[in-house]
Amino acid sequence: MPSVKDKNFLGELKEDAAVYQINSSLAIVQTVDFITPVLNDPYAFGAVAAANAIGDIYAMGAKPIYALNIVEFPVKSLPLSILQEILRGGADKALEAGVSIAGGHSIEDNAPKYGMAVTGFVDPTKLVKKSGAQPGDVLFLTKPLGTGILTTAIDRGLTGAETEQEIYKIMAHLNKGAAEAMMEVGVHACTDVTGFGLLGHLIEMMNGSNTSAQVFLNRVPLIQGARELAKTGAIPAGTHNNYRYIRNNVKWEGHDKKEDIMLLCDAQTAGGLLIAVSQEKADQLKAALVKAGCLAAEEIGRVAEKEEKAIKVLA
Ligand code: CO
Ligand code: CO
Repeated sequence: MPSVKDKNFLGELKEDAAVYQINSSLAIVQTVDFITPVLNDPYAFGAVAAANAIGDIYAMGAKPIYALNIVEFPVKSLPLSILQEILRGGADKALEAGVSIAGGHSIEDNAPKYGMAVTGFVDPTKLVKKSGAQPGDVLFLTKPLGTGILTTAIDRGLTGAETEQEIYKIMAHLNKGAAEAMMEVGVHACTDVTGFGLLGHLIEMMNGSNTSAQVFLNRVPLIQGARELAKTGAIPAGTHNNYRYIRNNVKWEGHDKKEDIMLLCDAQTAGGLLIAVSQEKADQLKAALVKAGCLAAEEIGRVAEKEEKAIKVLA
């Protein structure tokens, strides 16, 4: 992030997207994200990359409006039909989100990469920041964890084709319904769980809010099979890095199985929303998330007064 002096920029460093206020009822929200292939099927990769890019707009409580494609592709070594499938996957996902693709830019590169710069609108008085959590809040997660571990297992040939289809559905699932539910109910803070894993993103939220959190390990939703594969060591490098980054900030209360630590640190692609809501509104939010068809609507923890460690994981 640049050091921003223009007072029309809202929000602080490390928010999911940049927010620029136009007037008292309108701010534009902008983000950019592109990734390397996480699935073998090019159409599925395109759809997941689009869902992942648009996710940062939903995390701020904004409505995504339009996007520009960002493409890197090895035109000399791969057939153009693959690129067309990637773009078709992205276009279909954008259409589902109500996002117009208004252009883009492509360059030659030795490995494919795809994503989007996405622009959204929000009422600045309703903007949801990462830094608004308060002691006593309930934490919700709207998708199960484990996409990093499962995509690594697929890469290593440890799983069948059904698994690829299953995690494609999870990663490509838009956070649109989750965002609409949280905006309807009114929440204190939100971020999307992506590359830094649940604990990495939760630490950012807690540090930004000057609070600490308790995570209830048994209530954290996991993708079926992820725990067993984590035990066999199908752990991506990004997840190991996340663990090194967070370990001094997390206290494990009477439970420190390696597979559980790795799952809570697992680098996600297009993960769910992590939401902090007041205790009075927690039931209402849960009902709204379920009604919106979210893949998970689990109460995974609580926000507490700031302690020495940002997070305590309880078994
Ligand atoms: Co984000
Ligand atoms: Co992002």
